[in-house]
Amino acid sequence: MELTFTPSGFVATIPDTVVKRADEYSSVMMDNAELSCLAGAALAFPWTPDALAVEIGSYEGTTAAFLAESMFDAGHLNHIISIDPFERAPTSPGNPAGKYEVYLKTMHDRGLEDRCVPLVAFSHHAAPAVPDRIGFLIVDGNHEFESVQQDLALYAPKVLPGGFIFLDDYTEAYPGVVRATDEFVEASADFTLLHKSWFAILQRTG
Ligand SMILES: C[S@@+](CC[C@H](N)C(=O)[O-])C[C@H]1O[C@@H](n2cnc3c(N)ncnc32)[C@H](O)[C@@H]1O
Repeated sequence: MELTFTPSGFVATIPDTVVKRADEYSSVMMDNAELSCLAGAALAFPWTPDALAVEIGSYEGTTAAFLAESMFDAGHLNHIISIDPFERAPTSPGNPAGKYEVYLKTMHDRGLEDRCVPLVAFSHHAAPAVPDRIGFLIVDGNHEFESVQQDLALYAPKVLPGGFIFLDDYTEAYPGVVRATDEFVEASADFTLLHKSWFAILQRTG
């Protein structure tokens, strides 16, 4: 299936196996249309064995597992680092804390424990421990403006040329995500906005 990102016109391709998996893994966190675009961007990166996928905010690990399996189908055995303080995260309506035991079970049940590696920490504490070899970065942790701004400041420089940043919840319900994303795109000479709808996708082009 071909997916055309808006407003860039960037075309991503996903195999039928990924289309089916997106239906299977569709959740309240990310629906099948969003997962399809996420996989389309991830599979467009020219993966080398040492490149990493990083998800800030993993919750129960559903999206990380979807990404790992979709990358595996394409022959990419790269590690996915799941950064989340889990039960220590502050909660509010629309912002649940992650569930560490559920995350571990998600990976155990799917045989992904060797590739999906939890880093149980707040994203700003974890940043110094994360290598600057990120091919695909998901920003979906704390949705307040200052946190998203900080996540982009700390992690975007670790994204490899041609790599992608996927920001979830680019919607009116999360004004901090929208503002931090817009300001980052406006200020950054290195990243190009490929897509925006209820999520946003950027690519490192500089
Ligand atoms: C919307 S959920 C993530 C959903 C997940 N990406 C998915 O698609 O299934 C947000 C997660 O961010 C985590 N979180 C909150 N503050 C965080 C922070 N400062 N650093 C990393 N993760 C954080 C929460 O514990 C929660 O699990």
